[in-house]
Amino acid sequence: MLLHLSTWQEIDDYLKRSKTVVIPIGSNEQHGPTGLLGTDWLCPEIIAHEAQRSADILVAPTFNIGMAQHHLGFAGTIALRPSTFMACIGDWCRSLGLAGFEKIYFLNGHGGNVATIDAAFSELYAEATYAQRNRGFACKQKNWWELKGVFGLAQRQFPTGHGSHATPSEIAVTQWGYPDSIKSANYAPQIAPTGPIREALDFRARYPDGRMGSDPGQATPEKGAELVAAAVAGLIDDVAAFSAEVAPA
Ligand code: NI
Repeated sequence: MLLHLSTWQEIDDYLKRSKTVVIPIGSNEQHGPTGLLGTDWLCPEIIAHEAQRSADILVAPTFNIGMAQHHLGFAGTIALRPSTFMACIGDWCRSLGLAGFEKIYFLNGHGGNVATIDAAFSELYAEATYAQRNRGFACKQKNWWELKGVFGLAQRQFPTGHGSHATPSEIAVTQWGYPDSIKSANYAPQIAPTGPIREALDFRARYPDGRMGSDPGQATPEKGAELVAAAVAGLIDDVAAFSAEVAPA
């Protein structure tokens, strides 16, 4: 069930049978010479949208801009600084909590978001603590590549040149989701360099074509289909477990 294609009455009805909502969250940022700018929000969106076709899961609109200041040296990147990102996550959660949602599950597609999403959760819990009330809702984030079965599959598919940015696994997922937008390039070197992440000018100098440690030329839509199938199964299980968590009295 997709929130943006539902009415408020349908959401009211959904809340009678579940208090859980899934929010795909990612980033709009350069992904090397062949990766789509939307890769990091498209992957969790593709997986969550596919999962709600076979399970009674409510999926909220995708939070598609994240903490990506280090990619701003490349055209098309749009970033929120951590403080803005935290404020936005907080208001998304407060809005959903007010409506009655008690389990807010972020399916994340961008490693650069993780620390800030956790910090945003801590801010929300701190609000409840200082007000001496129960939190009212629980938040969880999960990276899609950490869903059960996904990481092992990606390792088997791409034993070398997986890397950490513009990876063949994330690009394969978008190739499956958007086969009309598959790009090609000659990679030089075939496997990109690795190193630290700092500010945008430093990033562009270290990683001239935007990739980190990856050879995205190994991506295929068929491998993407396998990754999506594994991630969908993993997401359905993980959301069910989160929904079943009972807070102590
Ligand atoms: Ni990515």
